[in-house]
Amino acid sequence: MERLNGKTAVVTGAAAGIGKAIAVLFAEEGARVVASDINPDALDRVVREINENGGTAIGVVANVADQKDIDDMIGTAVREFASLDILVNNAGILDNFKTVGEADDALWDRVIAVNLTGPFKASRAAASVMEKQEKGGVIINNASIGGLFGVRGGAAYVTSKHGLLGLTKNMAATYGM
Ligand SMILES: NC(=O)c1ccc[n+]([C@@H]2O[C@H](COP(=O)([O-])OP(=O)(O)OC[C@H]3O[C@@H](n4cnc5c(N)ncnc54)[C@H](O)[C@@H]3O)[C@@H](O)[C@H]2O)c1
Repeated sequence: MERLNGKTAVVTGAAAGIGKAIAVLFAEEGARVVASDINPDALDRVVREINENGGTAIGVVANVADQKDIDDMIGTAVREFASLDILVNNAGILDNFKTVGEADDALWDRVIAVNLTGPFKASRAAASVMEKQEKGGVIINNASIGGLFGVRGGAAYVTSKHGLLGLTKNMAATYGM
């Protein structure tokens, strides 16, 4: 059964792990996938795998911490596939379980930029497209058990994932039906 026929999906962090699995599965379910990642070689392999298996995927090398890259990623979906139905904010990084006492500014800023500010900026770009579509759209944020409890990561990771759940709840309350 192809449950995503005719849908366009953007997946961040699609070159490995959970993001790769999502991109491959969405393509198997009929979605046209814009697979995005900061790692060009691994991304290329995923895009090739999808297309060789009969799916449709375009790769966009993008850092979710960079607004220009986000605009390019969302713009590619609209330009190439004329719609944006699903955004999966999946890209995320760990913080080596650093405590508040151990985490320096650079680590804190990097983790928040990728895990929280990136999804905010990508969601903002996606919402500006989805709001204009009669069919709307779906935004999926990949948080963590570290977004619910105080452990399962260090200070920056846990804070970023708590923030991501807050953003998710706010968007659901604002845009959900
Ligand atoms: N694996 C787990 O057990 C687990 C548990 C809870 C939550 N998560 C969350 O799921 C998501 C995916 O985890 P994973 O284990 O598959 O990770 P992973 O490290 O296997 O893959 C992450 C992908 O994101 C990419 N990436 C990293 N920084 C990026 C950036 N700035 N811009 C764009 N892409 C970037 C990497 O290149 C990589 O391809 C993360 O948000 C993570 O916090 C994972």
